[in-house]
Amino acid sequence: MRLSRNVIAAATIAMACQGAVWALGNGGSDAQQKRLESHLRIARDFATNSDYAGKETFRKAITLAEQVNANPASGDKERQQALEALKKASKEYLANRPGEWVRIKNGKMWTDDRGREVQAHGAGFILLNDTYYMIGEDRSDKWRPDVNMYSSKDLKNWKFENKIIANEKTHPELGSTRMIERPKLFFNDSTGQFVVWCHWEARDYSASEAGVFVSDSVAGDYTFHSGGRPLGIKSRDCNIFLDDDGTAYFISTIEENTDLGLFRLSDDYLEPVDYTVLFPGDRREAPAIARKGDRYYMLSSACTGWDPNPANLSYTDTLTKGWSPLHKVGNPIAFDTQAASIIKVEGSKDTTYLYIGDRWQDPNLPESKTIIFPISFTDTDCAFNYVPEFDINFATGEWRPVDLREGMADRSGWKVIESSGEKAGNPVGNIFDGDLTTIWIDEAATPTAEGEDAIQYFVIDAGKPVAYKGFRATPRSDAGSSEGLVRKYRLETSADGKKWATVSEGDWLPYWTYVDTDPESARYFRFSSLGNHSTSLAEFDLIAQ
Ligand code: GAL
Repeated sequence: MRLSRNVIAAATIAMACQGAVWALGNGGSDAQQKRLESHLRIARDFATNSDYAGKETFRKAITLAEQVNANPASGDKERQQALEALKKASKEYLANRPGEWVRIKNGKMWTDDRGREVQAHGAGFILLNDTYYMIGEDRSDKWRPDVNMYSSKDLKNWKFENKIIANEKTHPELGSTRMIERPKLFFNDSTGQFVVWCHWEARDYSASEAGVFVSDSVAGDYTFHSGGRPLGIKSRDCNIFLDDDGTAYFISTIEENTDLGLFRLSDDYLEPVDYTVLFPGDRREAPAIARKGDRYYMLSSACTGWDPNPANLSYTDTLTKGWSPLHKVGNPIAFDTQAASIIKVEGSKDTTYLYIGDRWQDPNLPESKTIIFPISFTDTDCAFNYVPEFDINFATGEWRPVDLREGMADRSGWKVIESSGEKAGNPVGNIFDGDLTTIWIDEAATPTAEGEDAIQYFVIDAGKPVAYKGFRATPRSDAGSSEGLVRKYRLETSADGKKWATVSEGDWLPYWTYVDTDPESARYFRFSSLGNHSTSLAEFDLIAQ
């Protein structure tokens, strides 16, 4: 009788336990054993952290793969078969997860399962089964960024996993003469290793190097593998791209921010093998590549430090050549972001591409926000569907817009009874006409008193008391650079239009998102831009209680 392989494996284990000779099998290579162990760790985590239909079957597949791996008689071939069976079982179990709509809201600092601020700027992601692992710069200590990892099934609820690369601990120079920016994460299917590539930099950006760190398990601790200029080339802002055929690339801004370098990596993802210069002289950074069908798309930004600028798109059918001329996409400040990653959400019904960008806040970099919104690629273009909030379903891969008036106070009785002024053709009443393309502009400076900054403001009489719990100030979306953008702001309210109380103020008005206040009621609202510059706004809303 011919025993199935799994039965042989189990039988051999039983024999081994009874003191049978271990020399029965050929043992296979260490590499293959390490690889299967790594996949087993991922599968065990998946089984532990999820509860979908078919869990028992999945657990059995894990047990069988464990037996094959533990069996001294198993060779590479048996382990390969066990691995394939394990992957198939993972996939089948994953297919049983229920579809669920998740609402993603932009604009705030995220908090993790410990109630602490998520610190993962310039983020990189990998998806293991149903879980996204995100790594990014921990800028709690602004100029000593090291690397945190978080996990999430919905890009909304974040669990702190580990500080995977730690100042002083992982590398003696990290935290003093070295820092890490834009860390990105690979899982190498053939070695079973997790590999981080990042910008490995000196405090004054003179090192211009890339760093590589490795770990056998996703959440680390990662160890330093190497650091230096890839193939001897100066390298700064960076990203990675894993092609469908498993070829991995490191892409970075090279030669003092002049060109982009596309470095093809070795099979283990640890070394650059060769490189191609892209966009020579175009001075692009923050590159992020996505693939749709046979076409590659790259988003990138200009080099303006922490200040936003328009994202540009280019596309090609061959990664190393034929990139189309760069053209602008999104709005002139990429909706106040710079690209960090593009996530491809492939579901049972659709595929959605999510843009992940940094809304840098300088000064006060640790407060920089991570922004997510859907983007869609046509043959030659990319639509930036920036929204303060949207719904996504990770099982089906679909997204849907949210009615942005939902939850907002009725504005039908509103009147502006006072304002600092308006530019002809851009009246202040545009802020509640429901049309994002019509805007209020006030270019005049209205000093409050000798030597004080100019204030641009308007006062709304809502006609009757409004029970509010926050507001949303929507900026004009067509302006070049950050023209007219309100950063320093104040919102005051009043019951009678005479006695005012400040309910919200700050140096950094969140861009086109929600600002919470204590829930209160008032009839008069005075919104001021305190930045001593011309001001514009497309819409103003109060969030209803
Ligand atoms: C940006 C870059 C960031 C960081 C910053 C420093 O242009 O994208 O990652 O390096 O400059 O000023």
